[in-house]
Order: sequence, then structure tokens, then C-alpha cells
Amino acid sequence: MINDPGTARPRITLAWAQGLDGSIAAAPGLRTALSGPESLRMTHGLRASHEGILVGIGTVLADDPTLTVRFAEGPDPRPIVLDAALRMPPGSRLMTRPYACPGSRPILVTAAGSNPAGRGALEALGAEIIEVGCTARGSLDLAELLEKLVAMNIASVMVEGGARVLAAFISARLVDRVVITIAPRILPGGLNPFQSGPGAACLIAGLGIERLGDDLCLSGRPTWPD
Ligand SMILES: NC(=O)c1ccc[n+]([C@@H]2O[C@H](COP(=O)([O-])OP(=O)(O)OC[C@H]3O[C@@H](n4cnc5c(N)ncnc54)[C@H](OP(=O)(O)O)[C@@H]3O)[C@@H](O)[C@H]2O)c1
Repeated sequence: MINDPGTARPRITLAWAQGLDGSIAAAPGLRTALSGPESLRMTHGLRASHEGILVGIGTVLADDPTLTVRFAEGPDPRPIVLDAALRMPPGSRLMTRPYACPGSRPILVTAAGSNPAGRGALEALGAEIIEVGCTARGSLDLAELLEKLVAMNIASVMVEGGARVLAAFISARLVDRVVITIAPRILPGGLNPFQSGPGAACLIAGLGIERLGDDLCLSGRPTWPD
């Protein structure tokens, strides 16, 4: 856990795959496989080294991911989905795949009073629904969420996307490490997390560069010059 003055939050790793142009998908809402096998093994090892794995509902609706560890050894992290309106489909793979125990089932993070009709079905499938406040822009309050996750004994979270969620964590300065897989592809018209929306420019300190098959892996610690 990170101990800021007066607060504690989980250790946050942002990890994503992109083409040479910075796109994380060929088009908004399109599932796009970018990583080669070596990078996939690295990413799944990273998943296994975190207690939680967080995505936005946009990624669930586009990719229907399982967020499991398949190409490395280790435990599956607990899925956490930012879903202010509780749009999670009950038939999604996150809701229907097997889990080791009730305490490893998905956490759905939502706004107060959202989708009362659908809530019961998701809870019946084992989801734990937690409510947080919204920012002035109408997004879920990430700082409040991280405080709640610490209280739930989740000490590390890997944030895998998608575009809006990556930009939001960088903008909120709530990131300890970034791990970026760069695939040798160019995706004209692709989805770039940092091309629009709120910004807080950051520098990456302690840059690590590794070649993984045909991909490059860059990692480091973001810092935000004032
Ligand atoms: N290459 C990669 O590594 C990678 C990884 C993951 C996804 N992707 C791609 O990314 C795309 C999806 O990205 P996306 O931007 O559409 O969706 P997203 O970032 O997965 O989810 C965004 C949604 O999350 C909800 N949300 C709630 N609180 C938020 C907050 N504080 N900050 C940001 N979002 C918040 C919002 O919906 P509500 O208002 O309804 O809550 C928002 O629309 C897909 O094409 C997917 O394939 C790529």
C-alpha cells in the first residue's frame, strides 16, 4: 500500500498494449489483439502479481474479457469494474466464469442508486457492488474507490484499460508504475487514450526497456511536474 499523508491506497500499476501510433484498439469499442505471445506471458505474470485487476465497463462491453491468468503461473486477481450505471451484462464472461471462492468474484463499482432493477440479478450471480461518489465530470471518484479497496484488504491493483480509464488514472495522479507493450503496428483511426479528455501531463522516471519477441515493453514510474 502507498502511504500518502493521511491516506492509504493500493499500489496501482497501469498496463496496456498499443501500436506504434499510440492506439490501443483499431477503432473505439473494437477488440484488437496487439500483444505477441512473449508480451502476453509478461502481462499475465503481471496480473498474477496483483490482488485486483480493474477495467472500465467500456472494455467489458467491447471485449467481454475474463481477466484470468492463462499464459503464466499464479492466482487470478479479483476483477473490479468501473460501472456507474450498472450496465454489466449478467451473461458476460466475467459474471459467468468460475471463481475459486465467493471472495474472488467481481467487484462492480457504481454510483448510488444505479439500475435498481438489474442490481439483484448481478448480486445473485455473486457480484459485490460498492458505491462511490461521482466527480464534477460525472465519473466515479477514483480516490474514494481506492480508499474502499484498501479497507477491503486489496493492496495492489493492475489497471488494464480501456482508454477512458487509463486517461482518468493518469489525470488523477493515482499511478505508481506503468507497463506499456508496444507492438510493431500502425492503426490509422485507432483509439488513443491520451488524445482527448482531461489531461495531467506526466514524465516516466526510471525507464526500463525490454524486447519481448517482436514487441517492446516500456516500464517506469510516472511523475507529474507541477
Ligand atoms: N490494448 C489494450 O491494452 C486495451 C486494454 C483494455 C481495453 N482496450 C480497448 O479499449 C476500448 C474500451 O475503452 P473505453 O474508453 O471505451 O472504455 P473503458 O475505459 O474500458 O470504460 C470507460 C467507462 O468506464 C466508466 N467509468 C466510470 N468511472 C470512470 C472513471 N472515473 N474514469 C473513466 N471511466 C469511468 C464510464 O462508463 P459509465 O459512466 O457507464 O460508468 C466510462 O464510459 C475497447 O476498444 C477495448 O478493446 C484496449
